[in-house]
Amino acid sequence: MTSDLTSQGRVEPAPGSAPAAAASPGSTADAAAAGSISIDGLSCSYGSFRAVRDVSTLFAPHAVTAIIGPSGCGKSTFLRTLNRMHELTPGATVAGHVLLDGVDIYSSDVDPVQLRRIVGMVFQRPNPFPTMSIYDNVIAGLRLASGKRDKSEYDAIVEQSLRRAALWDEVKDKLQQNGTSLSGGQQQRLCIARALAVDPEVILMDEPASALDPIATLHVEELIAELRANYTIVIVTHNMQQAARVSDYTAFFNMGDDRAGYMVEMGPTDDVFNRPVNSVTADYVSGRFG
Ligand SMILES: Nc1ncnc2c1ncn2[C@@H]1O[C@H](COP(=O)(O)OP(=O)(O)O)[C@@H](O)[C@H]1O
Ligand SMILES: [Mg+2]
Repeated sequence: MTSDLTSQGRVEPAPGSAPAAAASPGSTADAAAAGSISIDGLSCSYGSFRAVRDVSTLFAPHAVTAIIGPSGCGKSTFLRTLNRMHELTPGATVAGHVLLDGVDIYSSDVDPVQLRRIVGMVFQRPNPFPTMSIYDNVIAGLRLASGKRDKSEYDAIVEQSLRRAALWDEVKDKLQQNGTSLSGGQQQRLCIARALAVDPEVILMDEPASALDPIATLHVEELIAELRANYTIVIVTHNMQQAARVSDYTAFFNMGDDRAGYMVEMGPTDDVFNRPVNSVTADYVSGRFG
């Protein structure tokens, strides 16, 4: 799939770039699975303000990694560099490398639009296209990506995507209703279905449940647990209980004296919460600041 990253065709992995999963201690994920992300010396700025500095880490394929840390420490900014959305902000810049299955996503021959299909994103507030039906919302990205297809092909993709997003049973009899007629939690699962319809490898989620009620939050968390089998998931959450419930790995970010965010530590979620290496992490996960 990463072979689709460029408009020209295949980009060969950089020589010597190891598969991320192999270097990920304790990873139970299949080392050959697509969707491994390797980050090297990543810094992000808005103009002269450096919002995130020098992050190097690996995100295992087919696992859930949670990013936690105090408000303003650069979690959202960092997440948006993983599918090149950060650069859509005027004046925003990135230094360092992000490799997806060994391919540097900042290489000049990578098409950012194509990249954003392979590395999909779900936002804090559900954002279905307001004038579109449930059906059309699911295939909106697909239509843009691949032009016209047969109706039967679209029907099959709509059903499969809605099933994978655990929404099919609730909407199968009203696919032509407006997407915004659904509840907030259903709208968020519709947005997840829309991301799945273009066959991604990675799904980035920025506080995807923070605008939802507890029952809808539970549905989204259950869905994340199911999606892990087929996708690499990186989720920002300010809710530490949620991170502990849904993630395999946790990365703790904090803000330095220069106000730039940095990664303090990352490891298996149980270790980060119960046996953190760094005393700042211990203070944060025990609620002493943030
Ligand atoms: N579009 C922007 N322009 C300038 N500064 C920004 C912009 N977006 C975020 N920032 C700044 O970058 C820092 C990190 O913000 P953000 O990534 O939103 O943090 P978090 O998601 O951890 O709360 C903050 O100091 C914030 O004010
Ligand atoms: Mg944020």
